[in-house]
Formats: sequence, structure tokens, C-alpha cells
Amino acid sequence: MDSSHVENDLVNVLFTEEQIQARLAELAREIERDYDGKDLLIVGILRGAVMVMADLARSFGRHLEMDWMAVSSYGSGTKSSGVVRILKDLDTDISGRHVIIVDEIIDTGLTLSWLTSNLGSRSPASVEICTLLRKPEALQMPVDVKYVGWDIPNEFVVGYGLDYRERYRNLRDIGTLAPHVYS
Ligand code: IMP
Ligand code: MG
Repeated sequence: MDSSHVENDLVNVLFTEEQIQARLAELAREIERDYDGKDLLIVGILRGAVMVMADLARSFGRHLEMDWMAVSSYGSGTKSSGVVRILKDLDTDISGRHVIIVDEIIDTGLTLSWLTSNLGSRSPASVEICTLLRKPEALQMPVDVKYVGWDIPNEFVVGYGLDYRERYRNLRDIGTLAPHVYS
């Protein structure tokens, strides 16, 4: 669906489908340059990063491998709990591999800070992070992010994989959720 289907639930549209595609293509070019001649594994964090992974991966003009992890850090609401649990681990042995964790948003940074050190302990050649969005004002843990689509204000956003209670993930654009939806 697109923004017109959920017009009343959004305060505004932050990024359109076209803007997202263009930014992901830029990030793919950057990553291609940085990993030239290197074998690359990108790891998507379920479920939110599905759209980013699908479009980012297809923007590459080179081979790469894809794997997935599922972690839980949130309940069903809009606030991070700080507790991270692995619900689905990698199928790939990452020792000696160049890994990029792909996520759709960094909010408090708790999830990715924990995940980076978890993957870092498995002897990879390198671990970097690529996220479509980041909320600098919400950050509670330092996270070293190499590739960022955009920094955004500290507001709850939905669409393009981002959900509120499992809804809006299939929205093509990214928008700020109207407070009346969750209050
Ligand atoms: P963090 O651990 O606080 O950085 O949270 C990371 C996870 O929380 C993300 O991967 C999302 O699943 C979820 N999240 C954080 N902010 C938002 C938001 O604005 N909308 C939807 N999900 C969010
Ligand atoms: Mg996520």
C-alpha cells in the first residue's frame, strides 16, 4: 500500500519509495567501493529489515551472500525494552568473513550495539553496520555505524518494513505515525 491508503494515520511522509530506492542505490555504490575484491555477507535483521535487504541487495552489481537473524528487543509498543534475545541465529559460519549487518532503523542503539559485539565474538574478518534510518537523539548506547541512509527526528515512524504492532510494514513509503494511532 502507499501513503494514500493510510493517510489519516500519518502526520507526514518522510521518505517516498523513490527517495528510498535512490538512497539505497547510493549506499550500494559506496559499499561496493569499500569491499572491492572482498567476499561480502550481508545480514538482515528480521523482520523490519526485509524491505531494505531486498532492495539494497538488488542494487549491487556484484555477488554477495545474504543471511538473516531475528532478535527481540521490543515488546509490541513503541519503546525499547533493552533486553535482547536471539530468536533465530545465522545459518552461516562468519569466521573470517566480511559482514555487514543491515537494519532499517537505529533508535536507542541497544539492539545493534549488542548484536555487533555478539557477531564480533565469532572471529569475522570485519563487522560493519548499514541502517536506512537513525534517530541520533534517542541513542543510549554508542554504535559505530558505517552506512546510514538518513538521520531522522526522535519520532515513531512506520512503513517500508517498520511496524507499529505488526501493521504498516507493507507501506511503500516511510511516514511519521500520528499519535492518535498509539495513544
Ligand atoms: P533500538 O534497539 O532501540 O535501536 O531499536 C531497534 C529496533 O526497534 C528497530 O530495529 C525497530 O524494529 C524498532 N524501532 C525503533 N524505532 C522505531 C520506529 O520509529 N518505528 C518502528 N520501529 C522502531
Ligand atoms: Mg528491526
